[in-house]
Amino acid sequence: MPAPPFDAATATTVTTTDGRSLVSFGGCNYHGLAHHPRVVHAAQDALARFGLSASASRETTGNARPHELLELETAGFLGSESALLVPDGYTANVAAAQAAARTHGVAILDERSHASLHDAAAAAGLHTLVYRHGDTDQASTMAAQHVEHGVVMMVDGVFAADGRIARLRELLAALPEDALLIVDDCHGFLTLGPDGRGTASHLGLHDPRIALTTTLAKGLGCAGGIVAGQHCFIERARRATAYVCTTPTPPALAEAAREALRVMRDEPWRLESLRDNASRLRAHAVRLGLAVCPDPTPIITFTLGTRDDMEHAQAALTAAGFRVPLIDYPGGPAPVYFRLMVSSEHTQDQIDSLAAALAGAISRPIRAAS
Ligand SMILES: Cc1ncc(COP(=O)(O)O)c(C=O)c1O
Repeated sequence: MPAPPFDAATATTVTTTDGRSLVSFGGCNYHGLAHHPRVVHAAQDALARFGLSASASRETTGNARPHELLELETAGFLGSESALLVPDGYTANVAAAQAAARTHGVAILDERSHASLHDAAAAAGLHTLVYRHGDTDQASTMAAQHVEHGVVMMVDGVFAADGRIARLRELLAALPEDALLIVDDCHGFLTLGPDGRGTASHLGLHDPRIALTTTLAKGLGCAGGIVAGQHCFIERARRATAYVCTTPTPPALAEAAREALRVMRDEPWRLESLRDNASRLRAHAVRLGLAVCPDPTPIITFTLGTRDDMEHAQAALTAAGFRVPLIDYPGGPAPVYFRLMVSSEHTQDQIDSLAAALAGAISRPIRAAS
């Protein structure tokens, strides 16, 4: 079932179809950049020049200057040799897997790696092995057993569905020199690391075996996908059908994403605020007895008793003026669970009010998410 539709949104609120304004703790607009005046203006300005769609593959007639500039600027920001822009984050994973499959044969994935990584490995024809969530020992054993087939590990930097930070250092330690580690950093990009450069940077890892993928729809609030890494890997991604046979991000959104990167550079308070807000909401959750992942990310997931209990709590939170998503999404801690997201734009008052409403909504026994 899709979530209830909304009629309008700001960085922290949604207007429901019956005209109510709810403070939203859902989605992944981590810095509210989808609504930032500079970003919106950049898109509007570029729309007037480029229209809505590039209308064809970048390899035929759809390659606009903003696409190439965005690649250069994103690679520079991430400290990568090279970057490739594709239509979205899902496609970035498929392009990365297709690039990997030219030189490697076996994909090793965490069971909670994002569904797009699992799909990407299958689409690229990689033989796939899956290890228990976070079990880097099992991942190492698998890598050792398949070393002669060429191993590529594929994992979320920050797990989309539980907010946990992947143990990339341990995964790298298990990999031989010629292996690859594809890190889907959709939720680490612009949330973790110095300047928001992501999970590997947060962990102090600069390893040529790492290739990064990310969406531009979350931290940057735009749309598109990026594969970043060593020049030779990106050149292989450039031959992937996921790149060659798709229409890219609209040029106007590429321009918006470039502006969003500049906003992040000009407004460094955003990262600080995001981290303060995440720690404030997490502290509230812990005080309420919710079993949440302690990692310092803006994603907080938990369950409460039965599905009925959770639906009841969600209705109470909606009545109190909050959108708190109860989701059924692959890779989560339970078949259905609460997934809260806090952004750099939320006020302390909004967070404290949510915690008060949550305390009121929790009226039945709590079962911990694992
Ligand atoms: C971890 C992760 N990878 C990939 C994607 C896909 O990105 P996009 O929506 O840009 O296709 C998402 C979310 O949508 C995600 O959370």
